[in-house]
Amino acid sequence: MDTIMLDEGHLAPAEAALKAGEVVAFPTETVYGLGADGMSSAAVQKIFAAKGRPADNPLILHVLDLEGLQALVRGPLPESAARLVEAFWPGPLTVVVPADPAIPEAVRAGLDTVAVRAPDHPTARALIAGVGSPLAAPSANISGKPSPTSAEAVWEDMQGRIPYIVDGGPTRVGLESTVVDCTTNPVTLLRPGGLPVEMVASVVGEVQQASGRGPVRAPGMKYRHYAPDAPVVWVESTDAEWAAAQLDTLAQQYGSLAVLAPDAVDLPRRWTVTRLGRDDVTAAHRLFAAIRTLDQGRPGAIVVLWESELGLGLALRNRIAKAASVRVSP
Ligand code: TXA
Ligand code: MG
Repeated sequence: MDTIMLDEGHLAPAEAALKAGEVVAFPTETVYGLGADGMSSAAVQKIFAAKGRPADNPLILHVLDLEGLQALVRGPLPESAARLVEAFWPGPLTVVVPADPAIPEAVRAGLDTVAVRAPDHPTARALIAGVGSPLAAPSANISGKPSPTSAEAVWEDMQGRIPYIVDGGPTRVGLESTVVDCTTNPVTLLRPGGLPVEMVASVVGEVQQASGRGPVRAPGMKYRHYAPDAPVVWVESTDAEWAAAQLDTLAQQYGSLAVLAPDAVDLPRRWTVTRLGRDDVTAAHRLFAAIRTLDQGRPGAIVVLWESELGLGLALRNRIAKAASVRVSP
């Protein structure tokens, strides 16, 4: 299959393909999504095939607003979901609610709940409105790879597999949405993401963490993820002196190192450092793109220095931990 890159201003072919049950990659404010008509089982199967995604990992349905969510929920909308949606939609928040049985099994991976989000991106919204159906969309990477934050990154993974990629430039947030299970009381954080958990707590009060024990509640969280070809090492400290000593040891082990670190970590000049910026928001915007770019230089290892868990720091730690095969802590 030939893959065609479309400009954001020319959505008609993308909309027609989605209506015909095909898969189209499009930008959202978090990462690029691999979309299909979420109410068509046959269309949704094509997403799993294009990504190489395990069938037991459910998808997020993308809607325009609260009304779109209400059409997908079984029974009354949990009050926590109503309050979170009121506060943060459109935006990087996904709520898990009881699922209307009309939603295809493939979307829910057989669960009786469904994950729903209203993206804050004009192109994503235009496609949802144009197709007139919720769009199922996971991140537009091959399963296990870093999520794509540009159309070029989607192209690397998806060329030849899907008919269209809509190019909307780099995504604003750079990490996937925060997933909150609203079927529990208090609500449960299933995946930290682009909306800081502190903000979720400011609206609903208590937020419980998904425990490592028992059944996996966000099935996607059990897989290795976000991993480029080069091994990733997480150095869990931004103390420059200590980190520099670790880099010396790691270089003996892996050979050439590509180092990713916040601006404030003052490393010796012998290291070439790609900067994550001065704060968590900038680091989130840059992380996946930097990992993909560094991987193209075929380093012995990509070493990421990150410590903070405040704001988007929690989601950054989660993604780095999943990408890393080795973690070095003080
Ligand atoms: O920002 C995002 O969320 C992006 C953009 C494209 O919207 N999408 C995205 O989708 O990251 P995906 O499929 O890569 O991640 C969805 C996560 C997975 O961890 C999945 O297991 C979980 O949400 N999930 C989906 N439905 C669920 C459900 N019913 N119950 C629990 N977890 C669910
Ligand atoms: Mg994903």
